[in-house]
Amino acid sequence: MTQPSLSAPVSTNDIRRSFLDYFAANGHAKVASAPLVPQNDPTLMFVNAGMVPFKNVFTGLESRPYVTATSSQKCVRAGGKHNDLDNVGYTARHHTFFEMLGNFSFGDYFKERAITLAWNLLTREWGIDPNRLTVTVYHTDDEAFDLWRKIAGLPEERIIRIATNDNFWSMGDTGPCGPCSEIFFDHGDHIPGGPPGSPDEDGDRFVEIWNLVFMQYEQVDKDTRNPLPRPSIDTGMGLERVAAVLQGVHDNYDTDTFKALIGASVAQSGAALTPETQASHRVIADHLRSSGFLVADGVLPSNEGRGYVLRRIMRRAMRHAHLLGAKEPLMHRLVPALVAEMGAAYPELVRAQASIESTLLQEETQFRRTLVNGLRLLDEATASMEPGATLPGETAFKLYDTFGFPYDLTEDALRAQGFGIDRAGFDTAMAEQKRAARAAWKGSGQRASDDVWFDIAEATGSTEFIGYTAEEGEGQVVAIVKDGARVERAGAGESVEILFNQTPFYAESGGQVGDTGTLTAPGVLGQVEDTRKYLGRLFAHATTITEGEIAVGDALHLTIDRARRDRIRANHSATHLLHEALRQRLGLHVAQKGSLVAPERLRFDFSQPSAIDPAALALVEADVNHHIRGNSPVATRLMTPDEAIEEGAMALFGEKYGDEVRVVSMGTAKEDGVDKTYSLELCGGTHVRALGDIGLFAVVGEGAVSSGIRRVEALTGEAARAYFTGRDEKLREAATALKSSPDEVPARVAALVEDRRRLERELAEAKKALALGGGAGAAPAGPETIGDVAFLGQVVEGLDPKGLRGTVDEMKQRLGSGIAMIVAVNDGRASVAVGVTADLTATRSAVDLLKIAVATLGGQGGGGRPDMAQGGGPDGAKGNEAVDAVKAALAAG
Ligand code: SER
Repeated sequence: MTQPSLSAPVSTNDIRRSFLDYFAANGHAKVASAPLVPQNDPTLMFVNAGMVPFKNVFTGLESRPYVTATSSQKCVRAGGKHNDLDNVGYTARHHTFFEMLGNFSFGDYFKERAITLAWNLLTREWGIDPNRLTVTVYHTDDEAFDLWRKIAGLPEERIIRIATNDNFWSMGDTGPCGPCSEIFFDHGDHIPGGPPGSPDEDGDRFVEIWNLVFMQYEQVDKDTRNPLPRPSIDTGMGLERVAAVLQGVHDNYDTDTFKALIGASVAQSGAALTPETQASHRVIADHLRSSGFLVADGVLPSNEGRGYVLRRIMRRAMRHAHLLGAKEPLMHRLVPALVAEMGAAYPELVRAQASIESTLLQEETQFRRTLVNGLRLLDEATASMEPGATLPGETAFKLYDTFGFPYDLTEDALRAQGFGIDRAGFDTAMAEQKRAARAAWKGSGQRASDDVWFDIAEATGSTEFIGYTAEEGEGQVVAIVKDGARVERAGAGESVEILFNQTPFYAESGGQVGDTGTLTAPGVLGQVEDTRKYLGRLFAHATTITEGEIAVGDALHLTIDRARRDRIRANHSATHLLHEALRQRLGLHVAQKGSLVAPERLRFDFSQPSAIDPAALALVEADVNHHIRGNSPVATRLMTPDEAIEEGAMALFGEKYGDEVRVVSMGTAKEDGVDKTYSLELCGGTHVRALGDIGLFAVVGEGAVSSGIRRVEALTGEAARAYFTGRDEKLREAATALKSSPDEVPARVAALVEDRRRLERELAEAKKALALGGGAGAAPAGPETIGDVAFLGQVVEGLDPKGLRGTVDEMKQRLGSGIAMIVAVNDGRASVAVGVTADLTATRSAVDLLKIAVATLGGQGGGGRPDMAQGGGPDGAKGNEAVDAVKAALAAG
């Protein structure tokens, strides 16, 4: 037997590089690994094979600038169709995270070249002994059989025909698929096991290292399989497996990368590697990789969907850390070893190191609070169990519900003792809890129409929101609701609410409005006008279908209106900054009472007893803009509500928070010379990446909403700029009208106001002089004598009624003895005053004379004393008539 050639790569990092270089030298484009969260496939939990990112290239939906490619793709198989979680730690080759080396042809070469390239790499470049290689072909694939004979010269007994699905590869229930040919490495007869297809094929001697898939079909649904536009090639080689081969070991966990990670686990836990601790160290090393890479790709632990798979992986590792006797959280201390091993090949790991560490630490700290009590409960429950017995489902459910033990963690814990779990009992307990939650919800007075949402939630689970990081993505329709009832399909012209298994559309909550955008597929277009949230976890896309038909089960491309979301983001982040600035400038009594975060503007209501001083509001605006210019990144972390509040995060009083909350922090400010986070809030909304993205902030309104609650309205970005520009425009118009420059406007306006006051004063004096001097309008000039009494009567337009009595007094003085009367007409109304000098009051009463005038002027009332009386009436035009009426009365004696 020949050993690998001297030039063969040995370290895992070298093997990866050598693989990619080989295919690049053979004309393949080197393509970087796609993120673990599928960007183009809603039916997949995680990328689980190297071909997944190329799915749409195979089916012809998408084209790339290359027709052949090579990659080393990050894969996770935990949850979904390919799930290896349960076995990890106990076998030589199961992993939740692994790397798949692959070469791809999109309608370029097919079987012959694929086999040639693979054979040459293994046997020539890497020097693997051909005698240790065996291949399989799909039982009907004579072409592949003949090619293996021709190219590799393999004897017929080492080209094994397999009739099962093992040699027909498919990505999932749908997607590209085709017959395949697998290459096995014989680790030697010291290991039990037979070749593929033999009765003892399950032994570990023959290990599959490379799968060459001859992609020929697309599985559209379970009954339909269409040919691909052009036959293609997808190959996948497990890097960990081939590393074991090239490093001369049988077990993947004995390769260099795993040895380093297990070494770190030994060093940091203080537990030596023994047959008893081996499984735990392996679980830790494997789960460290999947957790680290998932967090680096934006997945965070949660109780739903992908986040729950991550949580299950993390907690499974954390129980093993506990088993090893670790007294303190362990996982986060292993991250430097992971980054040292894999960071050069995957720079995202280096960038995310701090967030991987803090996520692991947070999860382990949280889980440790219940882990010990949960394990105690488990020990008590199993103490009386016979070997091989099953744990009651209810106990498993209690561990899940009260102690945060994922089902598979309990299963893993029981495995060593040979116990099982009553899965059906667990499911029944879970269903009962859901039923109780539904009853409680109904009891709380919710509308009966919520029934439809409960049904959907139970049947389909919660919607997974992928919009924190993505603005578009694929979603599979899980339900359609029309007029409050579920329907299977809807066509052009219909308005319906559509639910997907996952969506980048934000559903209205926490003041932030729902996203709008489009749903597309070939021949299908839907306009999403709003996105609403039901039961706190279902995202319903209010959609008008404009083209084609949408049915439950369809996969659609979901694209949010990005520009609109960008404005919403800016307004949401600005709202947080505004909140903090108000607290700092007005006092800590400022607490949020409501908010609206829309694309056009933001509105923030808060407790504050009095109107805000404009100078303080100007400082608030300046503070917010200061942080925008600081341009610091916005960070999001998950914590328990208690931890968040301990850190000083602002939470809404009375709001119900789940087990974990998103905490959004932004900006820095010096406090006692130390940099502190400026704003820390619990928030599920979407935010800018860095504060500079807000652009600009303008307060445009402040007012009262109700007693003790004030409202600030503000704009950001382009809207704020347009607002300031609009203001500037008006200032310039004013300057032009004033024939001055904008800078001079305030002084010019002040001068004008002063001028106007002076002119008003002067005008009033002139009017008064006119009244005293007479001679205006139709009123007689100078005193006249009526009977034996001197009479001076005047009608004056625009004379200020306030000074009327003073003027009449002056007239009386001038007359010496007599009767004075003035009618002041303002805006059509008349005010009238009549004065009688003291010597005449015995015979003439000002009050009587006034009554006559007032009656003529169409008024009522008025009064005074015999020497002076005042009143008025609406008929200002009858001023002269009033004077004449008084004169007539005097003449009559
Ligand atoms: N898609 C195939 C696999 O995952 C080959 O890459 O095995």
